[in-house]
Amino acid sequence: MKISSSEIRRIFLDYFAGHEHLVISSSSLIPNEDPTLLIVNSGMAPLKPYFTGEKTPPEQRLCNIQKCVRTNDIESIGDRHHLTFFEMMGNWSIGDYFKDEAITLAWGAIKDVFGFDTHRIYATVYSGDNRLPNIPPDEESIRIWNSLLPPERIIRLGANSNFWGPAGETGPCGPCTEVFIDRGEELGCGGKDCGPDCECGRFLEIWNAGVFMQYNLHESGDFSELPIKSVDAGAGLDRFSVILQEVDSVYETDLLKPIKDVIAGERANNISEKSIRVMTDHIRCATFMIADGIYTGNTSREYVLRRLLRRAFLHADLSGVQPQNLARASSLVVKMFSQYYPQLTQNQRVIEVAIKKEGDTFGKTLKRGLKEFEKVVLHSKEFISGEDAFKLHDTHGLPLDLLKEIAKEQKIKIDEEGYRFFLEEQRKRSRKK
Ligand code: SER
Repeated sequence: MKISSSEIRRIFLDYFAGHEHLVISSSSLIPNEDPTLLIVNSGMAPLKPYFTGEKTPPEQRLCNIQKCVRTNDIESIGDRHHLTFFEMMGNWSIGDYFKDEAITLAWGAIKDVFGFDTHRIYATVYSGDNRLPNIPPDEESIRIWNSLLPPERIIRLGANSNFWGPAGETGPCGPCTEVFIDRGEELGCGGKDCGPDCECGRFLEIWNAGVFMQYNLHESGDFSELPIKSVDAGAGLDRFSVILQEVDSVYETDLLKPIKDVIAGERANNISEKSIRVMTDHIRCATFMIADGIYTGNTSREYVLRRLLRRAFLHADLSGVQPQNLARASSLVVKMFSQYYPQLTQNQRVIEVAIKKEGDTFGKTLKRGLKEFEKVVLHSKEFISGEDAFKLHDTHGLPLDLLKEIAKEQKIKIDEEGYRFFLEEQRKRSRKK
């Protein structure tokens, strides 16, 4: 049976409310009193003071669906499941249950409530890591999973995969146990070591069934024990929808497909799938950011927003999509999501103006920049030197990441090291001044 994303939201919250979790609302994407974090990137980010004991939560068991933005994987946007904006379905125990109940709760939802095929489920657990010599392997989670899964589907991994946090530079963090679903050999790389930690896309992480918040990371790089042991668990709504709606990628779910269709319009068969996906993802993310009061600019989160919009407009230009389609897609985001996030409708006009303004300004820069780009390419054939790349950025407003995308389309190489040399020289000059 296929389940709509609104059903998934309802079932998730009902399940945890039925297990005595208080349903709280999603916080803004702008972190509240957390200078170590640019944009809310996880369900637990707005709850950090509860884990450290600085604030008392309204209840010890909480759950919600939190809007999140992560742009560290921006280069991966266009594959089946990476997104810059996503909604995290989260449940938390603040000094209440710990590993046993966290894993049992997740398993109950996976098996009995959502009816995932449990033969395809894998769990990863923290194996210990030389880089964190004082944090022992998570034997307790291994023991709990052993009662639920065959041993070959319990995978032990190091800190890169199974130590989560903090959200931001400092704060609560701990070993975690994640749940993956095997989407089938045909989606895999066929490598002999292919497993849940392989990037090929065969294994999709559907739930971080528990970050066991035991440690506080300080500015010095030292960990201290937190006063209480807590659980931070989260499942991506888009990823749940991929599996439960039996589609190939997040872009075919009811959360993104309508937006993608508006963007592609009549050109659907003539645009690269990657470009449509980048535009779809970035426009949804930008719309949510503006609704929460972020405006385009050249620093901090304002630059994150500008970069997303400019990337979306660049892909529109490269693939012949009208900028109006991006504006229409943004209006659709407002329409589709405002029942859960009313600030979208409240700020609809601001969103429209901000996107149009960025599109217009960037359109002019891009036109000029592309002309210069073509001149450079005419002389240097299939290579752009570091000096030219720097000039295109500094004088003609084409930053390296966008330049790289244009160059990639035309199979042209860029001397990135050279570019960085000229950038550093300029920084030295301005520091001297
Ligand atoms: N904070 C954890 C994560 O983002 C659990 O939700 O994976």
